[in-house]
Parts: sequence; structure tokens; C-alpha cells
Amino acid sequence: MGKVFIVFYFYVIVDSMFSSQWFNKQHVQHPKTKASNDDIYCNNEMRQINNYTHRCKSFNTFLDYMLEDIINACFTPNITCKNLQKNCHKSTLKVPITNCVLTSDHYPNCRYHGISKMAFFVIACNPPLLADHSKSKLLPVHLDSSTEGPGPILLSS
Ligand SMILES: *[C@@H]1O[C@H](CO)[C@@H](O)[C@H](O)[C@H]1NC(C)=O
Ligand SMILES: *[C@@H]1O[C@H](CO)[C@@H](O)[C@H](O)[C@H]1NC(C)=O
Repeated sequence: MGKVFIVFYFYVIVDSMFSSQWFNKQHVQHPKTKASNDDIYCNNEMRQINNYTHRCKSFNTFLDYMLEDIINACFTPNITCKNLQKNCHKSTLKVPITNCVLTSDHYPNCRYHGISKMAFFVIACNPPLLADHSKSKLLPVHLDSSTEGPGPILLSS
């Protein structure tokens, strides 16, 4: 009985950590929360993300773009991800993003430098998990990269 429960509990945690909700929490913030500058914005927003993992994440990108429109990017042609899986997709438009770069690694006092710009984003998508409670056929699960230029588009066969 105990073993079944532990396995189930583990499944629920792993399921939610790999679900689209974790992607949303880490990468989607629309509209962007007001802060006097991007460093302060990053310090504030990253505090909540780092609170889950109890370490200072070294780099993170926030997309100031509607979730529905980010999900739509899952339905653009597949491209190859950095890890060579073929489930990545590039946005058709440049969107406002903020990159947060770690400058001081003393958890829980993680300090960041924030840089906002317009960029394309590349996301990996998967069919939704139970924890996602979604009717979409695909949901973003990972932010693979962002790029200001059109960049090389690696088309999967
Ligand atoms: C960190 O997470 C705990 C729950 O795990 C919560 O009580 C606390 O308010 C969070 N702190 C911040 C800064 O988000
Ligand atoms: C294309 O990407 C989706 C995820 O967005 C994936 O489910 C599908 O298997 C991929 N297709 C190919 C041919 O790799």
C-alpha cells in the first residue's frame, strides 16, 4: 500500500514539474509586472522560481506574450531542438522578452541583470499531461532559445 502511494505521489510531483504549468510559471509573464528597472524585475520574478528549486537559476527568459499565442507556436512546422529532439517550434513573430542573467549566486539572495528586447522564441511542445487539464493537442514544455535574427532554421524531415 505504502509503496503504491509513494509511486503515485512521485508521479504527481514529476508530472507537475514537467507539465506545461511549470513552463508557464518560469517563462510566461503577460502583462509584465511593473518594476523600476529590469534588474529589479528579474530579482523579484526569479525569487519565486528559485523558491521551488532552492538554488539560483543561472539564466531565465520571460515572454511578455499571451499564453494562447505562445501555444499557437506549437503548431508551426517542427524544427530540431538543442537536444536534437524534433519537437521544437519557432515563433512567427518577434515578441517582447526579458532575459535574466545571474550576477550574484547566494541563495536565497539571488541577484540578476535583466535585459529586455524583441526576439523570436523557440519552444519544445508535447501533448498535454493529466496535470495540465488542457484540450489543446500540444502545449509548450520547454523554452529552447530565443533569437533576435531569423537565425538558422533547422527543419526536421
Ligand atoms: C516560497 O515557497 C513557500 C512554500 O513552499 C511559500 O510559503 C513562500 O511564501 C515562498 N516565498 C516566496 C518568496 O515566493
Ligand atoms: C512535431 O512536434 C510535436 C510536438 O510539438 C511532436 O508531438 C511531433 O511528434 C513532432 N513531429 C515530428 C515528425 O517529429
